Amino acid sequence: MTANELRTMFIDYFKTKGHTQIPSSSLIPENDASVLFTTAGMHPLVPYLLGEKHPAGQRLCNCQKCIRTGDIDEVGDASHLTFFEMLGNWSLGDYFKEESIRMSYEFLTKHLSIPHEKIAVTLFKGNKNIPKDVEGYEVWKSLGFGDDKIFFYGEHENWWGPAGLTGPCGPDTEIFYDSGQEKCGPDCGPACRCGKYVEIWNNVFMAYNKTADGRYEPLAQKNVDTGMGLERITCVVNHKKSVYDTELFTKIIEKIEEVTGKRYEGNEKMFRIIADHTRASVFILGDDKAVTPSNVDQGYILRRFIRRVCRYLRQLGVDKNVIQEIACVVVDEYKGIYCELEKNREFVIREIIKEEETFNKTISSGIKIANKYIEEARVRGTLEGAMAFKLYDTFGFPLELTMEIANEQNVKVDVEGFNQKYVEHQEKSRAGAEQKFKGGLADHTEETTRLHTATHLLQAALRKVFGETIYQKGSNITAERLRFDFPLERKMTEEEIKEVESMVNEVIEKELEITCEEMTVDEAKEKGALGVFEAKYGEKVKVYTIGDFSKEICGGPHVKNTKELQAFKIIKEESSSSGIRRIKAVVGIQ
Ligand code: SER
Repeated sequence: MTANELRTMFIDYFKTKGHTQIPSSSLIPENDASVLFTTAGMHPLVPYLLGEKHPAGQRLCNCQKCIRTGDIDEVGDASHLTFFEMLGNWSLGDYFKEESIRMSYEFLTKHLSIPHEKIAVTLFKGNKNIPKDVEGYEVWKSLGFGDDKIFFYGEHENWWGPAGLTGPCGPDTEIFYDSGQEKCGPDCGPACRCGKYVEIWNNVFMAYNKTADGRYEPLAQKNVDTGMGLERITCVVNHKKSVYDTELFTKIIEKIEEVTGKRYEGNEKMFRIIADHTRASVFILGDDKAVTPSNVDQGYILRRFIRRVCRYLRQLGVDKNVIQEIACVVVDEYKGIYCELEKNREFVIREIIKEEETFNKTISSGIKIANKYIEEARVRGTLEGAMAFKLYDTFGFPLELTMEIANEQNVKVDVEGFNQKYVEHQEKSRAGAEQKFKGGLADHTEETTRLHTATHLLQAALRKVFGETIYQKGSNITAERLRFDFPLERKMTEEEIKEVESMVNEVIEKELEITCEEMTVDEAKEKGALGVFEAKYGEKVKVYTIGDFSKEICGGPHVKNTKELQAFKIIKEESSSSGIRRIKAVVGIQ
């Protein structure tokens, strides 16, 4: 059974059960800064799980594009992926445990013909707040499952969500496929990672809302949220050993063999990383809300994917740009299901080539220097932060890539030291820029302070007009004006310039207070602050908030109230380099 057939069967089955198919949402979450990418089908449904009426009804199903980067270091083994498709069905306050479990069971055994004996399930054993899932247990029992096939676990295994810090969540029942492998010990069960049990489907009974103060309050409506990884179920149904052995990857792997001249057998780890990361990059760039490679947020993950692929291709002996060829195969394989990939094909290919070219220019010398540094660091066991920073700054090596290369030689990287160098460097370049423009005075005048704040407002307004692909590519402030560079493939129209100006002026007129809080970068990101992604290891940063209009990590300084800006005007909009626009703007009554 092919993945395409499976996808269709799943949707058709749930349609016969009264569900409406909804389209896959963007990989870049809308109005939700708690995660960088859509990680599950329920993500775009949060407001509806909390009680809002969904226009398509109370029973929904779909196949959702997802990216999870938590296990990026595991990619290369038989089962881990960063990008995957999730099949899901939902009840928004309609059916609950019994119907949900019965439908899952019927689909797996009757439609996918998985034998009853190959299935084992887990349930929530309860804790001080939430009782043991006896109801779920009774349903599985009635389907012929004995106590040897039903396992109870705690929050770690059988509680799902919320996806961010707050939101809908609940106990779940997970369905596993028993591979037939011997138990690895007397305690071996679905929670064991030995490989005997493969998780195939998760049914979450979302009846709680986690509040900001950490309480679990019962939701007015009881929901069901299920998710089944398409690659995983295709692998199981076709008795394959690895998701990479399913037909979803056949053509991609053949292409990698062609461009490298090497065989998959014997090079599995590198081939899988190349295949997975290229597929993920194509889906990020091919999304209608695409981001481009950068040093922040989703753009940074994308950059890491592409640069990691470059490195492994090098290791396989390739010394020219070939990722776009692999990317084309991904587009061809998926364009029938995700038509945005075909629509955005040129953009995907152009961005991949751009990133690959930039990195390939320095990668050879970078790898040589990295190996030299790491070789020297072996006796000490740690690579100094300054060295990792040099590789980042001079050769474009993301910190994680250096860590990975070092790790292969059992060398650690001083991440703290790297962060310190990073911050010092930022301060130096800021001081340098100010010196250049202000004849040596590196202080913050009232005027530059106002322009700093205006820059935040400008970035927020641009993101509201053009979407979240906009980010600060470069910024420079003199006593007279601000300058802001951002990615956009075309000139802004007069109307767009006016719209951005009026948005900023409205905020100025609203006389909003600017507040500053200190927190770790992780906390800042959880709160949805824009900012530098690299300095993320526990280091404290300042987050400046302007009403609900803007939230950014920044060293400051800023004005106390937006009214101090008086007025905002864009004086120039021009090209800065290919794909990058530059705005010059002023504040004050002109
Ligand atoms: N949200 C649940 C999960 O991701 C079910 O889809 O496992």
